[in-house]
Amino acid sequence: MLAVNKITLDHELSLCGVDQFPVLGWEINSNHQCVEQVSYQLQCSYDESFTEVLFDSGVVISNASANIILNDISLHPSTLYFVRGRVIDNYGEKSEWSSVAKFVSGLVDNSWQADFISGESVQDKANSKVTLLRKEFALKNNVAIKSAFVHSSGLGIYQLFLNGNKVGSDELTPGWSSYHHHLLYQTYDVTEQLQSSGNVIGAEVGAGWYKGDMGFTRDRNYYGEQTAFIGQLVINYEDGTTQTVVTDDSWRAEDSPVLFAEIYDGEIYDAGQQRSGWNKTDFDASHWRPVEIVAHDKKTLTAQGACKVKQIEVLQPLRLMTTPQGDSVIDFGQNLSGWVEFKVRGQRGEKVILRHFEVLDADGNVYLDNLRSAKQRVEYILNGGEQEVYHPRFTYHGFRYVKVEAYPGELLLENFNAIVIHSEMAQVGHFKCSNNDLNQLHHNILWGLKGNFVDVPTDCPQRDERLGWTGDAQIFCRTASYLMQTSSFFSKWLTDLKYDQTPEGGVPHVVPDILAGHCANDINLAEGGTHSAAAWADAAVINPWTLYLMYGDTRVLENQYDSMKAWIEFMLVHSQNLIWGYKLQFGDWVALDAKEGSYFGATPSDLVCTAYFAYSTELFSKAAKALGREDDHQKYRDLHQQIVERFQFEFFTPSGRLAARTQTAHILALYFNLVPAAFKERTVNTLVELLKEHDGHLVTGFVGTPYFCHALSQNGREKEAWELLLKEDFPSWLYQVKAGATTIWEHWDGVKPDGSMWSADMNSFNHYAYGAVGEWLYRAVAGIEADENEPGFKHVIISPVIGGGLSWVKAAVHTNYGEIAVHWQVQESNSGQRVRLNIKVPHNTHATLKLAALRDVISADDLQIEKQGNNGVVKVGSGEYQLEYLRD
Ligand code: BGC
Repeated sequence: MLAVNKITLDHELSLCGVDQFPVLGWEINSNHQCVEQVSYQLQCSYDESFTEVLFDSGVVISNASANIILNDISLHPSTLYFVRGRVIDNYGEKSEWSSVAKFVSGLVDNSWQADFISGESVQDKANSKVTLLRKEFALKNNVAIKSAFVHSSGLGIYQLFLNGNKVGSDELTPGWSSYHHHLLYQTYDVTEQLQSSGNVIGAEVGAGWYKGDMGFTRDRNYYGEQTAFIGQLVINYEDGTTQTVVTDDSWRAEDSPVLFAEIYDGEIYDAGQQRSGWNKTDFDASHWRPVEIVAHDKKTLTAQGACKVKQIEVLQPLRLMTTPQGDSVIDFGQNLSGWVEFKVRGQRGEKVILRHFEVLDADGNVYLDNLRSAKQRVEYILNGGEQEVYHPRFTYHGFRYVKVEAYPGELLLENFNAIVIHSEMAQVGHFKCSNNDLNQLHHNILWGLKGNFVDVPTDCPQRDERLGWTGDAQIFCRTASYLMQTSSFFSKWLTDLKYDQTPEGGVPHVVPDILAGHCANDINLAEGGTHSAAAWADAAVINPWTLYLMYGDTRVLENQYDSMKAWIEFMLVHSQNLIWGYKLQFGDWVALDAKEGSYFGATPSDLVCTAYFAYSTELFSKAAKALGREDDHQKYRDLHQQIVERFQFEFFTPSGRLAARTQTAHILALYFNLVPAAFKERTVNTLVELLKEHDGHLVTGFVGTPYFCHALSQNGREKEAWELLLKEDFPSWLYQVKAGATTIWEHWDGVKPDGSMWSADMNSFNHYAYGAVGEWLYRAVAGIEADENEPGFKHVIISPVIGGGLSWVKAAVHTNYGEIAVHWQVQESNSGQRVRLNIKVPHNTHATLKLAALRDVISADDLQIEKQGNNGVVKVGSGEYQLEYLRD
């Protein structure tokens, strides 16, 4: 039976707040194999039962079931929409209508009547307190409400309340963006929260990223001096009329019990200063102060339909311990980003004080040094009497442990939980295998993502940094997109990247950019500048291209096109004879072949720069092609060719020696296809020699590490790739696993084999960058690879790299079309390896299955496997298949 499974909207299951009609897609269910869609029909309506259809596509002959853009529908503001679809397949079967997907439009066409209001004045510039804002209003008498939506945003971090209850379940809204260009607003359905007897709308606003103390330079007021809130509540009545309640000068303000809240330093909360009932009716606010109207360009307001930060899960503590130095410490067993929630009972004025941190030192004592100046401290002052429950809301911490500096009464684990927060994304990737250390590595990579995808892809979540370092986000983007549905997350961040680019197209080291103009005292950045480093700035091109590969959505390429092009042009202008370089370069950052005490790896900067110049130019020319921009496609394809030639002339000797004898130089040359065909073998051999010289260990940094295993396995050195991945002693991925890591470390030797720590100056234990090896688990080990000619996994290349002594691997990636799954099992026998392979290919897609080192097919579910050299190749339609074969 044919059925349309879920309909997706901008790759999400539902959206609340959109400025334009979302991109549609759906999954198809059928009990046939090789199912292809022949046609589809989509309908859109204002009501769930589709009594009045406002759009009907009619039957569209097309096999497209993802990335459907309906250009003909313009949205009304504050309106609930329903979408459904049905399809006909190549068997002539016709599905029923799908279940409905719904979304709510935002304040389309920027119809804001509200003003930004503040409970602070400019004298509060240095203040980190939270303020309350409130307004009472009445509904129309005797008219039923059809729907009510509130649109809201803030300068700072806000929480919204209606009649005593929090609106929505988002946290840290409106998140962090390039506020002066791109400020996200959230939309909530509050139909059920309104009451006929009288209503109170209120907000709490803290300093957050907007006004607070940020960056390793510890400046503040990057974006402004006063926090503010904007809200527009739209009530649609059944009689066709509308009532609008907006933030304006009729609101009143007061200080909140949050006496202090900063992203790095934590929160101080005095429960004795709670204004009970402040966000309900029957509260006397006559003594509250008037608000100030704050100027902020409302054109910057952009709807955020999904991917907001939320409380995602709750972890119970593992154990309570007393350290050798006598500190009480709670261990949550997992390095994470979020808050501790606790229950406490005591006297008025007694305190709970917590310090959050990541690791214990070699003696088992509290280690705070790597937080640098970030306090990660929570102080709660009790109201007294009844049991009190608290977690902070205007800060977040990166931690596994908390040191309890004060707590009235007996310290019991049952009174503590860790609340994990991050941007809400669907987990799409799953990987398990017969090697438990690898499973733990996968777990650590996933938790590196969770800990650092808190609205912005941060380098780390604990020290006084937590910035959107472009390089980290670039190298991890592909891995992240195998693990989670990252489309909304990265699209938002790339919009900020575009806005924060320099007028010449330079790309900031961090996005949102808070370094420009703030680094006069930084040894590297003062002179070297705050933008345009190879591998970092290339996020401008590589990330949109990666999203296109993974989701097939051309919109991200459209939106980023000028930004991508500007970055290529920037490199071109600053190159000399196509060898690129610009001011400060991070090169192969924190590689182990760096000089003692240096962060800069040994691979020459001009080689790294020019390799990325070539790679980004190639991707940009492909992006131009995908958008049908033929002129640019050819122009940049030619430029790419010239850069490659120049690279080869400059960095290869006439006899084929790569001038820089580092692992990273060889990895980049191979992975970016910069090696002349005649020198390929030599380059691969040298890379393997360079590995051997370090006893099979990598000495690579941010630039070489992500592609190391690929550079080997794509060049016939699968065995060496596996050996590298499975190394257990320092330096290696599994060294950290064996040392008990629960996330990925910033340094291969974050904790050295002798138990001592890398310099506290820069030693994060939750830094996803080296987790970029995750893509090798999915693309190579499971062999689930996208095809740029049919992106978004419309066509998947399944080509597992079996090895590593593993007896089985089970992996799946949930794509636009459904789940692609690969399960291989290996049995060693005298005659070689016997492999059982199960694969699942979603309907309305197809696959090419490649079996490396195929000797004999034992059974293949009627698939006709063609021998191509040592490999078997077969084209496969949708469905599930089981094969058994012998391999050499
Ligand atoms: C960050 C890195 C970042 C680097 C750039 C560090 O402080 O934590 O991950 O990419 O600076 O130099």
